[in-house]
Amino acid sequence: MTKLVEREKSALFPTYDRLPIGAVTKAEGVYITTDTGKSYLDAIAGLGVNALGHSHPAIIEAIREQASKYLHLSNLYLQEPQVVLAEKLERVSGWERTFFTNSGTEANEGAIKLVRKFFSSESKTEVLGIANGFHGRTYGALSIMDKPKYREHFGPFVSDAGVIASYDPNVVAEAVSSRTAAVFVEPIQGEGGIIEIPEDFVDALHELRERHNFLIVADEIQSGIGRTGRFFAYEHYGLKPDVVVCAKAIGGGLPLGAILTKKETADALKSGVHGTTFGGNALACAAGSVVIDLIEKTYMDNAAHQGEYLMKSLEALREKHPNSIRDVRGKGLMAGVEFTANARQVQQRLFERNIITNVTAGEVLRMLPPLIFERKHTDDLLDGIREAVETMD
Ligand SMILES: Cc1ncc(COP(=O)(O)O)c(C=O)c1O
Repeated sequence: MTKLVEREKSALFPTYDRLPIGAVTKAEGVYITTDTGKSYLDAIAGLGVNALGHSHPAIIEAIREQASKYLHLSNLYLQEPQVVLAEKLERVSGWERTFFTNSGTEANEGAIKLVRKFFSSESKTEVLGIANGFHGRTYGALSIMDKPKYREHFGPFVSDAGVIASYDPNVVAEAVSSRTAAVFVEPIQGEGGIIEIPEDFVDALHELRERHNFLIVADEIQSGIGRTGRFFAYEHYGLKPDVVVCAKAIGGGLPLGAILTKKETADALKSGVHGTTFGGNALACAAGSVVIDLIEKTYMDNAAHQGEYLMKSLEALREKHPNSIRDVRGKGLMAGVEFTANARQVQQRLFERNIITNVTAGEVLRMLPPLIFERKHTDDLLDGIREAVETMD
């Protein structure tokens, strides 16, 4: 029988380079098992999706219970799981209104439409992102990004959209105007290499919003839902957004995203002007309800504690090996180690110890462990990085 890896090559688009660990046969808690018989400690959690680890029994039970009632209905129908999840999101984050989507990029598309509609009477249509950001793979999202890696050969992009060239307050002041409808920011850039939003940029953005009357959209797709030790990462930085987009962890492993905002902003999207077939799917919302409950009760605090330990230990390692480690960044369980070179070699050494991480933005080893990580898991991860660095030095 032809190997699965060969069958994949002749069946699927060649868009993904798979991790060289075989095909996954099972994933449970913080471990992933492959057809090689090996189990790996998962320190990337489905790129931030599996906040409660893999196959959490409470999520599976919620899906089972919902599946016994109905799966998909469409947004023609009133569905309790959507309402319950939106109410929970308001309880934990204070945002009054939710629009559910299928994915992160679709949440950003919806947010672009929302801000333009909100300002339609004033003809403000410009939407801006920040250099080095990541908002997704669809055209609106790509239009507020600048990295050639994601955009090359896909143009032309959406008009009246662009990127502020840096976080420098003077550059931002030059870039925005009374025509600006919104500035999209990631409180911590994830794909961009775990880069935290600078304080002077936040202050400048607030001041410029007062002057020009635009909306600030926080893209919390990777950083949100408790990962950084706060429900949304913007809370760490004093950022006061008008709209928040989230996805990944919110669906507990099923495809779900959301746009959150205040009532007066949400009211811009009246009945029929925006929609989605799958967004707010009942199974995904039922799973999401469990995620919010457990994150609020236990795992957001765990992310804060484990994260603090992880960051302190990584910082100590950097002080010991300044020639190999350039920087350590992040909050909670959203962490990055920037190496001077050979980040992929570190990732490879970690594979050899059965630990999964990933490398993004050149030389940054990124860690997005499940928020159920315990001290022993964090220690395994740290031991792996330590050993890799020692052999590289
Ligand atoms: C900050 C951020 N925004 C948007 C997206 C796009 O989300 P999705 O892949 O669900 O479309 C991602 C995905 O990695 C992300 O990290």
